[in-house]
Amino acid sequence: MGYGRMGRMVEHVALQRGHSIVGIKSDRSEPPDVWLQKFGPADVVIEFTSPDSAFDNIAACFRAGIPVVSGTTGWQKRLSEAEALCRAHQGAMIASSNFSLGVHLFFELNRWLARRMIKFPEYRPVILESHHTGKKDMPSGTAVQLAQDLIQISGQKGWQLNSAEQEDLLSVFSSRVPGEVGRHQVIWTSQVDRLEIRHHAFSREGFALGAVMAAEFLAGRQGMYSMRDVLGFTEDSSE
Ligand SMILES: NC(=O)c1ccc[n+]([C@@H]2O[C@H](COP(=O)([O-])OP(=O)(O)OC[C@H]3O[C@@H](n4cnc5c(N)ncnc54)[C@H](OP(=O)(O)O)[C@@H]3O)[C@@H](O)[C@H]2O)c1
Repeated sequence: MGYGRMGRMVEHVALQRGHSIVGIKSDRSEPPDVWLQKFGPADVVIEFTSPDSAFDNIAACFRAGIPVVSGTTGWQKRLSEAEALCRAHQGAMIASSNFSLGVHLFFELNRWLARRMIKFPEYRPVILESHHTGKKDMPSGTAVQLAQDLIQISGQKGWQLNSAEQEDLLSVFSSRVPGEVGRHQVIWTSQVDRLEIRHHAFSREGFALGAVMAAEFLAGRQGMYSMRDVLGFTEDSSE
């Protein structure tokens, strides 16, 4: 579902990995339930559309009994609703704001570092993210995930966008730059030094590969999974 920048890359990677594509939903005006009835059974749907379309597309997949991998960002306020629908229909779903393997390693590093830095209040964290000018949501879903993980560990009250006004909120700075595929940084600064971790995506292929790997994992399963399940990461907080 969705035949934009990501949809085309998913098509390329899926074919490269020997899969068949039974349908492509490129017309947003066609209701997803109608579109899903047009072809024979599919093992899985991969959805990269837009924030206003994702929930309806995902719900239609549950009704049709087809597992769904969704990479669309900016609709996560409705995630718990989607999870409830998934349970009600005994469906299967993996939704992730970022399917790149490198970013999931980055999420692990962010949590690992935060658990250590929290003991040193002289260091304050900020998140920076930069994407291409066609991106519809701000901050990125990946930056929101990094912020939520930091907030959970640091106990800050929430985050603020492009502002450092409130001391008790984590600052997330977003910029939109022509041609930038995706860059994220977490920076801890004290009076005397700074420590930073960063991830920079060179192309969309890494996102598409992760989404196709998630689809391979999800086909034939039931329930809600994450990229951590797909990648086999288990967190050891004592590490
Ligand atoms: N999770 C990840 O790893 C990851 C990586 C990159 C991007 N993303 C996210 O994935 C989404 C898509 O990114 P993109 O770069 O591919 O955007 P894009 O180039 O704008 O492509 C999205 C396409 O989906 C179409 N669309 C929207 N609603 C639809 C519907 N109901 N049915 C069929 N097609 C529909 C759009 O058509 P219109 O032009 O008519 O709206 C557009 O052609 C964004 O939310 C982006 O933030 C996620």
